[in-house]
Amino acid sequence: MTDMDRSDLLTAIRSAVAASPNANTAMKQVVQLLKDAVPHYSWVGIYLIDGDELVLGPFLGKPSPHTRIPLGRGICGAAATEKATIIVDDVNADPRYLACSIETKSEIVVPIMNGSEVLGEIDIDSDQPAAFGQADRELLEHVAPLLAEALSDG
Ligand code: SME
Repeated sequence: MTDMDRSDLLTAIRSAVAASPNANTAMKQVVQLLKDAVPHYSWVGIYLIDGDELVLGPFLGKPSPHTRIPLGRGICGAAATEKATIIVDDVNADPRYLACSIETKSEIVVPIMNGSEVLGEIDIDSDQPAAFGQADRELLEHVAPLLAEALSDG
């Protein structure tokens, strides 16, 4: 993805979130825009914190068996606990990985934060190994605060 594509995508996401009447619509729009715009995003979903678990919200891609993930488990749980983005180049080499699809090779998880509180996270899988780099991190770390705002507004 070029820098120009990425800034266009971020602009489109910003507009869609601003025009969304509620957080659920905002999350669905973000998932759709990301999935459609970036070919190496094979599975795009948003998990939300519910007590000490992450609960799967809107997603596009194959249905995941992991609709509820305890905070201590998976790459998703690790990102929420560490409150930091995690990129895994080879999911099969990471003992934390919870498999969603046998085609998945790499993953990025970006926490959605409100101050120091984790509200949820953006989780993206790719069928390509080492698919996620600095451009993906920067894009998604700009998208996460937009979702935080939508979720905090109700
Ligand atoms: N791979 C994630 C689980 C979610 S599925 O990828 C949709 C993890 O290890 O936490």
